Amino acid sequence: MRIKAEALRRTVERIFAAAGCAAAEASCVAGHLVDANLCGHDSHGVIRVARYLGYMREDKIRPGGQATVVFESDTVAVIDGNMGFGQVVGEQAMDLLAAKARKSGLAMTTIRNSGHVGRLGGWAERLARDGLVSWHFVNTTGIGMWAAPFGGTDRRLSVNPLSICVPVDGRHPILLDMSSTVVAEGKVAIARNKGVPLPPGAIIDKAGNPSTDPNDLYAGGALLTMAEHKGYALNVMIDLLAGALSGGGCTAPGATSLVNTMTSIAVDPAPFTDRDAYLAEIKRYAEWVTGSPPRQAGGRVQMPGDFEHETRRERDRKGIPLDPATWDQIVESAASVGLTGDDVDACVAEG
Ligand SMILES: NC(=O)c1ccc[n+]([C@@H]2O[C@H](COP(=O)([O-])OP(=O)(O)OC[C@H]3O[C@@H](n4cnc5c(N)ncnc54)[C@H](O)[C@@H]3O)[C@@H](O)[C@H]2O)c1
Repeated sequence: MRIKAEALRRTVERIFAAAGCAAAEASCVAGHLVDANLCGHDSHGVIRVARYLGYMREDKIRPGGQATVVFESDTVAVIDGNMGFGQVVGEQAMDLLAAKARKSGLAMTTIRNSGHVGRLGGWAERLARDGLVSWHFVNTTGIGMWAAPFGGTDRRLSVNPLSICVPVDGRHPILLDMSSTVVAEGKVAIARNKGVPLPPGAIIDKAGNPSTDPNDLYAGGALLTMAEHKGYALNVMIDLLAGALSGGGCTAPGATSLVNTMTSIAVDPAPFTDRDAYLAEIKRYAEWVTGSPPRQAGGRVQMPGDFEHETRRERDRKGIPLDPATWDQIVESAASVGLTGDDVDACVAEG
């Protein structure tokens, strides 16, 4: 099925409101989840609704939780998310980061003790709309520990994503937004829901053997880091930058909640380079790189961020594709917070 973004957003917003979130919080969480679907990262979209409701029931996330600033200077803020929704905490942190970077040219924030911050690229795009270049490093402690270290066989690492974004006037930003594993865990969940195999090299089973069966991950297997030893090394550095530097802690066993930390750096390019020369250089460079003759007939070389931009345009127009299992989970989530099928139908119709 395909569903219009606004219809999906209203449905998810209504579910979180019925689960006990304040209106603004429900709207913020729903907006971020649906935006992840819109730009093609379904792993961080509405497939998370059932999990987030589970965290609420188990008191692993605190609805109404707001960020508090632990330390602040002109260029730095240390933020405690107090286990509020990561979407809400992230908004508060990025507002602060943008204000400091615009004022000082360079700023950094760390977030500790936050609920799941979702798709990192959304935070980077938010800063790009303010003309800011940014870098973001995230780790997931405890129940996000899905990946094996290079050469190892069991789960010791989280998927540790990073995002880097360069805004370009008159064009969508150049955006890197990825986990440092071959695929994010959510993409394995999607493959399991769809009943399709994973690409080779993405996971190992619990005995350490290569596997393409998504079920093997949930039967004690592990995600593999991307690019062999280099992706593993990157994964470790992200854990240190996000977990150790924020004070939230690096990936550790024994935790029972999903906790994100995020270290973000934002830069105003204005003092560093002449604006017109900067834009001209990025344009020249993008044309040079993407001008490479395609390896496959009918193919083309893309810039990072083109995927999200083009998917967003297409899904805005045609609606967001949802597999039946994911939609069923949303309908079950709605029922679990007391909404009827008619309530869901009404949200879809309004959208
Ligand atoms: N909050 C968390 O704890 C957490 C953890 C892990 C991942 N995530 C999120 O999961 C999402 C998915 O991560 P992923 O690792 O599956 O991403 P992915 O493998 O789909 O890679 C996405 C990146 O690759 C770029 N890209 C895609 N095709 C391209 C091409 N042909 N040429 C050039 N660039 C191309 C995209 O623009 C994007 O920057 C991300 O949004 C990430 O932020 C969040």
